[in-house]
Amino acid sequence: MNELRELIESEIRRPSVFVDESVLYPEFIPPVIRYRDKQLKQLVELFKPVILKPGASSVKVLLAGPVGTGKTLTSIVFGREISRVAESRGIKLKYVHVNCSRSKNLVGIIREAKDSLCLHIPDRGISSNELLSVFLKLLNRENTYLILALDEFEYFLSTAPPEDRHAIVRMYDVLQEDVKRVNMIFIARGSPASVWSRVDSVTGSYLMKNFVPFEPYRASELYTILKDRVDAAFHQGVVGEEVIDYISKMSGHDTSGDGNARKALAVLHAAGKLADKDLAEGRTTRVTIDHVRQVIAQEYPALIDLLDNLHYLNLHEILVLKAILHALKESGLDYVPISTIEATYDKVCEELGEEPRKHTQLYAYVMDLKQRGIIITKTSLKGRRGRSTYVGFGAAPLGAALQKLDAVIKQLRVG
Ligand SMILES: Nc1ncnc2c1ncn2[C@@H]1O[C@H](COP(=O)(O)OP(=O)(O)O)[C@@H](O)[C@H]1O
Ligand SMILES: [Mg+2]
Repeated sequence: MNELRELIESEIRRPSVFVDESVLYPEFIPPVIRYRDKQLKQLVELFKPVILKPGASSVKVLLAGPVGTGKTLTSIVFGREISRVAESRGIKLKYVHVNCSRSKNLVGIIREAKDSLCLHIPDRGISSNELLSVFLKLLNRENTYLILALDEFEYFLSTAPPEDRHAIVRMYDVLQEDVKRVNMIFIARGSPASVWSRVDSVTGSYLMKNFVPFEPYRASELYTILKDRVDAAFHQGVVGEEVIDYISKMSGHDTSGDGNARKALAVLHAAGKLADKDLAEGRTTRVTIDHVRQVIAQEYPALIDLLDNLHYLNLHEILVLKAILHALKESGLDYVPISTIEATYDKVCEELGEEPRKHTQLYAYVMDLKQRGIIITKTSLKGRRGRSTYVGFGAAPLGAALQKLDAVIKQLRVG
């Protein structure tokens, strides 16, 4: 027992590079949101009617962009502020944030919403539509308005039954309510097309007008975002400018990365952990670029495998791989269809002055890349024309992998 207490005491007293590690957790809400003024302003404009004429209309907005571009953060902070403003004007407007990767259908979503609003509705033994209408009745009784943010909305679109999708995206076409209490923020990863293609055309064109795009971050932007966290998370002087600069350049969309702030923060956090370990063992007291390199090497061993594998491939097979990575990076999607890859491949060939191979050869290369475990594929039903193949890549960050590929392509073409 005493030994355990001593262990706890000594762990607490142990010197650390961190002042407050929680600042680096993904769910931490920073006091300042950087570079999202445009998006916040657009949200304010779109939701203004909810404050000025509550209940007159139901506002629906789509936030979309690649992972780590601040969609979740922006939505949460906007929701918090607009409900404060509403409250100061005597309007009960609540913001509820639901993650659809946890709550995949209508019942799950309403259940989370009612819990976070502390509304008591027994949800056993009634259908999802009944639950929805009881929920709306209670909002009426409490005179409450709602901004319901559905994060990772693509999960809902791909897993919820059609009637649930219909009820959510066309709530007030289904239910004739005079006072419209529910407003929506749909948050989706990737391009807005992935949402438009999966909702009806009326909703699609409505969302097209209310679309707030999130662009991947540039290196200079990531620098500022990281610097804010460094100042709050670490002891002064522990993380040098060169380290922040290195991570930002590695992650910036305009340099070699994919513009993902979440990943950049995770690398910073992991590098800090390594420095902490060194400190405990009496070595360095600072976070160094070498710590960052160690993190990368640990995190992406598959990149090393990929490089070994490239020696077995011919030039055009590598160009196909390049086209795949390019198409994934451009679209921000997890998987891209073969048709997109083919178009990108033709462009890649054109740029290099290479004659592109024919469709069947390209398909054979894709299958070979899959066989070698370099890419992953999945098939999905595509209307009446049968199955179509989608390709994904999970071995390493796209930016880093593309950079390596370019170096190899250059060598092959010279050699
Ligand atoms: N503009 C920003 N300013 C400060 N921190 C940011 C900004 N954008 C993203 N972050 C941080 O980066 C991480 C990822 O952001 P998040 O909102 O989860 O991205 P997304 O939802 O687009 O995947 C979070 O830790 C978030 O706090
Ligand atoms: Mg998110």
